[in-house]
Amino acid sequence: MSQNNYCSWKNSLSTMYLVKIVLFLIVLAVVSADDSSVTCTEKYCDNYPGQTDPACPTLPSLCNKTNSDSGLFLLSPTPCNCCEFCIAYLNEGDTCSTGEKTSDSPTEICGPGLFCDPKTEKCVALTGTLCLDAQAKYDMDKDMGRVGDYQVRPNCDGDGYYVPYQCIPGGICYCVDKDGKRIFGSIDNNGRAEYDLPCTCSRKFDDMSYVIGRSLRPGEYLRCAQNGAYETLQCIDDKTCLCVDTIDGAATFSNAAPVEIYALSNNSLSCFNETVDREGKFYRRCEELYMNLTKEIEEIEDNYDIALAYELPDCTPDGNYAPVQEDHQYKYCVTPEGIRMSDYIVEKNSSNKELLADMNCKCAMATAIMSSVEKPSCLKNGNYDPKQCRRGSCYSVDENGNQIILTHPNRE
Ligand SMILES: *[C@@H]1O[C@H](CO)[C@@H](O)[C@H](O)[C@H]1NC(C)=O
Ligand SMILES: *[C@@H]1O[C@H](CO)[C@@H](O)[C@H](O)[C@H]1NC(C)=O
Ligand SMILES: *[C@@H]1O[C@H](CO)[C@@H](O)[C@H](O)[C@H]1NC(C)=O
Ligand SMILES: *[C@@H]1O[C@H](CO)[C@@H](O)[C@H](O)[C@H]1NC(C)=O
Ligand SMILES: *[C@@H]1O[C@H](CO)[C@@H](O)[C@H](O)[C@H]1NC(C)=O
Repeated sequence: MSQNNYCSWKNSLSTMYLVKIVLFLIVLAVVSADDSSVTCTEKYCDNYPGQTDPACPTLPSLCNKTNSDSGLFLLSPTPCNCCEFCIAYLNEGDTCSTGEKTSDSPTEICGPGLFCDPKTEKCVALTGTLCLDAQAKYDMDKDMGRVGDYQVRPNCDGDGYYVPYQCIPGGICYCVDKDGKRIFGSIDNNGRAEYDLPCTCSRKFDDMSYVIGRSLRPGEYLRCAQNGAYETLQCIDDKTCLCVDTIDGAATFSNAAPVEIYALSNNSLSCFNETVDREGKFYRRCEELYMNLTKEIEEIEDNYDIALAYELPDCTPDGNYAPVQEDHQYKYCVTPEGIRMSDYIVEKNSSNKELLADMNCKCAMATAIMSSVEKPSCLKNGNYDPKQCRRGSCYSVDENGNQIILTHPNRE
């Protein structure tokens, strides 16, 4: 599952470094072309270098023309690219340089699958965890002056995995799995995500979904709260209710007798909270609708065609509506209570194909959670606009609203 991510990730890392080198070469080539008014022909290169031309650079000794794995062969930064040019690949453990912003074009770089550890200045293999690798990449980018104002250094736990919360400066914080993939649970970025966004329930929920190979359905697992922790009041099997710990989901007051749903009240269960819980009720609207419909489908199971016509709502692990919902004509964003957000509706027709394809409503959802008046700008389908502008500067973001590195900083 994450293997693919990991590979594309590695690629993007080496691509980053290449972009820098190639940019540098382009600059050099432009400069040399400017001060020599030559027309590039094969003949010109046959006679290269002429009296006024700079000599060809010597190839690094590690570069071996017959072995393309020995280095990176590029157009040479000389007039008409007449010379041979190569940047040699270093092996694991070789001494390397992360490249200062002002430094010359490197003659050597760490080979494929390796990166230059800025601390030890040695080429090391990208065999760490995704989080540690992301940290290394962040540090390297930072050394090269390529970290954006709203980029945050990945936060890893003692085992090298992502901590459960990921925060966007001036935005929201959301839960991630140990590989950094976004999962259920988010809060306004209040600077206290470490305490207020535990994600213990949503991580377990995600793990279990992974094990059984599909998303868990309403009623199949304990209910998570909006912040990814467990709700204190839980009912199991559509029947018995008990109180649990918000962090680990273990039953509290385990000697107390379980209570049936219909008997739920302030008096029957200590964790019943009058302001949020309803007497004799446990399931939220989305869960209830889902469970009612599946029950109906089971009852008419013999009549398969009718069963197929049922559209089940998409619920989140807290029993509320998932942000993206659809009917036969529209796809739209909803609040957790299932109320349509009128700004984010896309008609299902072919001219809206792109908006429909990856509609995720993540930006719409964030705007609803955020207390700040500075909201991110969202597209018609509730996704983040890939280009955000804030306090006079514009930058690119990924689908979760995190700033991503600009590969061409000079062009922005
Ligand atoms: C260059 O690479 C070829 C093929 O891998 C190899 O046979 C040859 O010995 C190498 N030459 C040098 C000088 O290392
Ligand atoms: C509910 O329980 C709390 C604490 O046990 C108590 O203070 C409150 O008066 C009760 N409310 C009702 C309506 O019984
Ligand atoms: C009941 O829920 C409200 C809203 O979430 C919360 O502010 C309050 O502290 C809860 N009360 C108890 C006794 O846990
Ligand atoms: C689910 O079914 C119950 C019992 O038939 C009904 O009272 C309830 O309103 C239904 N809930 C929803 C959301 O349709
Ligand atoms: C598709 O939907 C858009 C937005 O609702 C609308 O402007 C457009 O006319 C529709 N196109 C067709 C072919 O129905």
